[in-house]
Amino acid sequence: MFARRIAVVGSGYVGLTTGACLASLGHRVICADVDADKVAKLSAGQVSILEPGLSELVAEGLAAGRLEFVLGASKAVLDAEVVFMCVPTPMGVGGAADLMAVESVISEVRDLLPRGCVVVNKSTVPVGTAERVHKLLDRPDIAVVSNPEFLREGSAVHDFLNPDRIVVGSSAQDAAERVAALYARLGAPTVLTDAPSAELVKYAANCFLAMKLSYVNAVAELSERLGANVADVTEGIGYDRRIGQAFLQPGPGWGGSCLPKDTHALIQAADAVDFDFMLLRATIDTNTRQRQRIVTKIREACGGSLDGVRLGLLGLTFKAGTDDLRDSPALAVAALLREEGAELTAYDPGVAGAVPGVTDTVRVVGDAYEVAKGAAGLVLLTEWPEFRTLDWSRVAALLEGRVVIDTRNHLDPDVLRRAGLGWRGVGRQP
Ligand code: UGA
Repeated sequence: MFARRIAVVGSGYVGLTTGACLASLGHRVICADVDADKVAKLSAGQVSILEPGLSELVAEGLAAGRLEFVLGASKAVLDAEVVFMCVPTPMGVGGAADLMAVESVISEVRDLLPRGCVVVNKSTVPVGTAERVHKLLDRPDIAVVSNPEFLREGSAVHDFLNPDRIVVGSSAQDAAERVAALYARLGAPTVLTDAPSAELVKYAANCFLAMKLSYVNAVAELSERLGANVADVTEGIGYDRRIGQAFLQPGPGWGGSCLPKDTHALIQAADAVDFDFMLLRATIDTNTRQRQRIVTKIREACGGSLDGVRLGLLGLTFKAGTDDLRDSPALAVAALLREEGAELTAYDPGVAGAVPGVTDTVRVVGDAYEVAKGAAGLVLLTEWPEFRTLDWSRVAALLEGRVVIDTRNHLDPDVLRRAGLGWRGVGRQP
């Protein structure tokens, strides 16, 4: 394998994973960031992101001299054969992706890029961005390639090193092949295509996943009303290989830093070309309604009103295994509960200390038993494994009410019943 000299601009979640993993594949990687403190910490091997295996890979890369962190993109690109753009593209005005960070990096490095190097868009960017970057660069010797990432938070390193596929798109086929070759050791199916198709793959995949979940949550609601059990229904449909068992778990709605942003961005992109993406709008509406349905379920379980009712919340992050609270369905449900006058105490294994915008409305405590103390009901919102093995008799003794609302169908109803507690799941009969 050919070891390449690679620059990664942006050492956040995607950039750091990309840099550390590419170094582990034998490449020589320089990662840049604008945050001096972050660069100093990463250079000392300190990783602040909760991501299994990442600290180890960073330490290995540093020790082997294959990974380096520098302040500012200019320093990173000087000797690069391939430059990965891994800067944030947050939701901007009207739902479209905000490309300010991408554009400012391009104008910073434009005149510094070595002749013939390849610029790779790894960040999730709207269809057409590769072409726009190419124009901004105004360097005919430099090819721009779209190479979207498909990393899940909490298993990013695993996903990078065991990809379902590699997607690489460019109008310059040799550049696309050079980028695909960086991953050759991984032996994944590779889709070589044009840039707009590669860019659309990313959105189409995330939006499909969101649609699958909204569908499952709707089927869960229907299961409740028709006397069915959604766990059996999803198992039954999941054996159909065209559907698959993965991503069929109902819950309080989907969230996180990607699916909400990308669904809105694709609607916006569709609007811009006069296409009414009804299916995607319904996907988002169903998700919003799911949060309200969960609140209705909690209200009914607590006797019809939440005004002044003390509730304990298990979980605040958008899914288990991460400390990420961005667009968390748990927080959305908490906000709706607060609006109805509920008093909230919460525990989340990934959240410690004050969090602006959260700890001012929800009292966050250090363990699940503290949450249960004196509460009228307990609401599980994030599927942390440790919630399964709580001492439920102890929880029952601390709780004032008798009901546990399990919005992820994560707990064993029999265990709760044996502890004298009532269990309400999603898409299942109480
Ligand atoms: C998502 C995609 O899964 C990745 O493939 C993609 O690379 C990434 O976005 C991205 O664009 O960077 P992530 O945001 O880490 O990854 O989260 P997911 O694991 O997809 O979960 C999204 C939401 O769906 C969470 O709120 C989760 O709790 C919920 N979910 C997931 C369910 O409610 N049920 C399920 O069966 C699965």
